[in-house]
Amino acid sequence: MTLQKPILRALAGETLPTPPAWMMRQAGRYLPEYRATRAEAGDFLSLCYTPDLAAEVTLQPLRRYSFDAAILFADILLLPQALGAELWFTPGEGPRLSTTTTPDELSALKPADAVHDRLSPIYETVRILARELPKDVALIGFAGAPWTVATYMIAGRGTPDQGPAHALKTEDRATFDGIIDLLTAGTIEYLSKQVEAGAEVIKLFDSWAGSLQGEDFARYSLRPMQEITSALKARFPGLPVIAFPRGAGNRYAGSHAAVGADCIAIDDGVTAAWAAEHVQPAGCVQGNLLNSHLVTGGDALVTETQRVVRALRGGPHIFNLGHGITPDADPENVTIMLEAIKNA
Ligand code: CP3
Repeated sequence: MTLQKPILRALAGETLPTPPAWMMRQAGRYLPEYRATRAEAGDFLSLCYTPDLAAEVTLQPLRRYSFDAAILFADILLLPQALGAELWFTPGEGPRLSTTTTPDELSALKPADAVHDRLSPIYETVRILARELPKDVALIGFAGAPWTVATYMIAGRGTPDQGPAHALKTEDRATFDGIIDLLTAGTIEYLSKQVEAGAEVIKLFDSWAGSLQGEDFARYSLRPMQEITSALKARFPGLPVIAFPRGAGNRYAGSHAAVGADCIAIDDGVTAAWAAEHVQPAGCVQGNLLNSHLVTGGDALVTETQRVVRALRGGPHIFNLGHGITPDADPENVTIMLEAIKNA
């Protein structure tokens, strides 16, 4: 019998008695040791680009908790920066980027295969992690999906409704499509290097997929993720891919096939019972616990964790949250959640 990491078994379609678990943003500000290392780095981007420190914060949650995966510490906005956009983080304000909205600004960006110089520290972080991770823990590499990254490049910041990106899509479709195509090609390059450096699983974050209406959802969320997935699987046969078209609602049904993904991550906008019926028959499902339970704790944390585990018990499942853990979460609640998963 081959000993395979639990996450890889679930991604291969196996139904396990206890689901493997990890958390989006598991390395983050809710942990005092993360805040200390970030202070040592000086700022968030320096932390991302200093391989020893980025590897250190990736490993911190694994020292406290029995997670089955580590996710590379980086950010989805490093790729547009490597393509030539300016990127900065103002504390308390979230990310800011120079905007790309005109044909001239688009053609001033670098070609997809020119991203590696800037991103080479990220590949070094992956190499360190591949060496240092506990043997039963899987290493997840990631990138933003093109639509979500484009929303930040076009607006120059996070927006509640992705209005500027929707406007450009309507007013100058050629430039909009050019941004999506460049991001798709650049993401294939970036993720290929992560896999060569030792990432065993790839996750695509399409955090703003839910605001794409009608045919735009398939065209701009699912299709670019499908192009990335098929290119990666052609280069790395057997590579498992997780896609997260956040906010998809009932459009999660059918998304395994549309993307060609091994696993679909779901947010808290659908119930686990619905996902068991409509999504899980097509493959592994990950996610769903409302992240605020890690803030509020108590009986509801245990009950809701066990509700997710029980609902998805009949098929391949990786336990996770519906969105990243927030800075105000109590680290003790993570231990309670992991115990509840085991006792479900
Ligand atoms: O999940 C992980 O632990 C791995 C690392 C990771 C980060 N960002 C670190 C981070 C991952 C996978 C991301 C993805 C990411 N980044 C997404 C998609 C997932 C999602 O949350 O929807 C998006 C939209 C971004 C862009 C981004 N980066 C925003 C909007 C912010 C500010 C929000 C905030 O919480 O302050 C960031 C900063 C960021 N990325 C932090 C971390 C740990 C906080 C930075 C800090 O330490 O101050």
